[in-house]
Amino acid sequence: MLLWIHPLVQGLTALLALYVLWLGWQRFSSRHLGRQTVFQWNRHVTLGKVVVIVWALGAFGGIGATYISFGKIFPQSTHFIAGLLTLPVLLLVWLTGTHMDRNRGKSNTLPLVHLVAVLVMLVLVGIQAVTGIGIVQNVLLK
Ligand code: HEM
Ligand code: HEM
Repeated sequence: MLLWIHPLVQGLTALLALYVLWLGWQRFSSRHLGRQTVFQWNRHVTLGKVVVIVWALGAFGGIGATYISFGKIFPQSTHFIAGLLTLPVLLLVWLTGTHMDRNRGKSNTLPLVHLVAVLVMLVLVGIQAVTGIGIVQNVLLK
């Protein structure tokens, strides 16, 4: 049972992340595509922080749940490796995001770094979703 919490929490947070991405996209398209949009700044920041914190804690939750359930972890698995790689990327998303929030409109470079970090993060989480669903089918549902 314990092993179900992690996939459910990380998966639901992925849905929230898509919404946060859509909010950020409004900002991007007004800055770069000449479209008139409303960027819900505070909502993006608040929900963005929720996504980063839950995914980061969820990585440790996954390790904890794996260890408690199997008495070991699987450091060679793609899911473990990509899971650990998300942590520095999440940190970069957090640091660039909170810095831009404290110093509004001051930098042209940081939004770009934030965007690249966000895209890398989404690729890694995509890998986690595919490999994670594989584990659910092969281990949890067996
Ligand atoms: C700690 C969490 C986060 C904070 C504090 C934060 C903050 C911000 C801020 C302040 C901006 C506006 C930057 C500017 O144009 O001056 C921004 C842009 C953006 N954010 Fe976030 N964000 C966070 C997490 C996320 C997440 C999780 C995603 C995606 C799922 C995301 C996607 C974007 C995108 C696509 C942009 C537009 C970048 C651009 O215009 O080039 N952010 N963010
Ligand atoms: C941000 C997203 C995610 C991160 C960072 C992450 C990270 C991790 C980590 C580090 C472990 C421990 C692996 C080990 O110690 O061997 C783990 C276990 C696990 N994860 Fe995830 N995960 C994410 C999303 C998902 C999703 C979306 C699913 C399923 C839909 C999933 C399913 C599982 C399962 C079933 C385990 C326990 C069994 C095992 O590792 O063999 N994870 N996760």
